[in-house]
Amino acid sequence: MDKLLVTGGRPLAGEARVSGAKNAALPILCAALLTEKPLALENVPRLMDVRTMAKLLAQMGVEVGAQSDGRLELRAKGIREPVAGYEMVKTMRASVLVLGPLLARCGRARVSLPGGCAIGARPVDQHVKGLQAMGAEITVEHGYMNAEAKRLRGARVTMDMVTVTGTENLMMAATLAEGTTVLENAAREPEVVDLANCLKAMGAKIEGAGTEVLRIEGMSSLSGARHRVMPDRIETGTYLAAVAAAGGKVRLTGAAPDTVGATVEKLVEAGARIALGADSIEIEMAGRARAVSLTTAPYPGFATDMQAQFMALDCIAAGTGTITETIFENRFMHALELQRLGADIAIQGNTAVVRGVEQLQGASVMATDLRASASLVVAGLVAQGETLIDRIYHLDRGYEGLEQKLSALGARISRVR
Ligand code: EPZ
Repeated sequence: MDKLLVTGGRPLAGEARVSGAKNAALPILCAALLTEKPLALENVPRLMDVRTMAKLLAQMGVEVGAQSDGRLELRAKGIREPVAGYEMVKTMRASVLVLGPLLARCGRARVSLPGGCAIGARPVDQHVKGLQAMGAEITVEHGYMNAEAKRLRGARVTMDMVTVTGTENLMMAATLAEGTTVLENAAREPEVVDLANCLKAMGAKIEGAGTEVLRIEGMSSLSGARHRVMPDRIETGTYLAAVAAAGGKVRLTGAAPDTVGATVEKLVEAGARIALGADSIEIEMAGRARAVSLTTAPYPGFATDMQAQFMALDCIAAGTGTITETIFENRFMHALELQRLGADIAIQGNTAVVRGVEQLQGASVMATDLRASASLVVAGLVAQGETLIDRIYHLDRGYEGLEQKLSALGARISRVR
């Protein structure tokens, strides 16, 4: 199994291009199920999860073109089998995003329950509750959700908590429902807005994307469209945190500065100098970072997907930072690995107290999930000597060409067996 070998101690310099967003591309691929016409996408990242979703859609009978230069065309002329099997869903829980579109388009769907995850229980009860409110009959048997609805009908649904894929699933389902659906306490994440923009390009009637109240007027059918997937704000934040930790001066291009507000604020608090352009972000870090404290929250709050990278930054910062995770109940696995590098972290419930140390020591560590692996890369860039990161398949799920991009910025990082 591949590992990443990172040798620390070099500042980063130069330019890197941000890829398309994984968490926008995945629901947007599922939107292809809502129409028999072609959906032509651009800026689709070359990632394991995107390949998995494309494979799942192809299994259902969707024509999936070859991905090249970020372009990918899909066409769901007919849907042979509206089924997402356990073998697929267990490898990528975002597969649950086919449930709403399949039910809306085919009137039935059989989708495996995603099961547990390293970072938390992550149930899908809100997805089910919303679809039931829209008239679907959903039973759960042998680990599968069996859903049926002659035609979904508009409804008012108040989410018990802010859920990103829950909002996306219900929004997609509502585009073909009879009547109007109102989603209250909806997620405001930029990925939800990007999906709404794609659906609107397909002819859907959606108001309020990016706010807590989404209003979707159902149509009898949707058309094809062209859509460019938004830049990845978590990939952007990961590179910015890497520069804040290792030092240096880097310019990120092809970015969406307006989607990384909370991350940029914390980086400035840590002592970084940041300049925002229309689609670029320049960061310069001279000297040692200052420790920052943060609490994760739904957008526009501080992203839980940036928490691990900032924990790595706080590990070598001057002072003590307190990190509180409010979204997932088990998202501190990386802390134990960072401690292997000599970090001083105390966990109390959903809060981690990180006392910055002068120097981390390179060691062998293991990635436990996607963002945890990114935090180990950030720590490896500043640790003395070599850090060997195992189970980097987690990283390949969400970062396109990470070691190539970091090497181009001067980092000593390579993939080894
Ligand atoms: C999305 O996951 C992202 N994944 C996650 O990114 C991200 O961490 C998360 O949103 C929060 O921002 C994709 O977009 C593919 P949620 P999602 O439903 O939608 C609870 C990454 O690293 N909940 O917003 O699955 C849930 O347990 C990944 O790229 C219910 O209880 O997250 C959690 O505590 C990791 N019932 C909270 O809500 C439900 O039906 C928020 O989860 C749904 C959610």
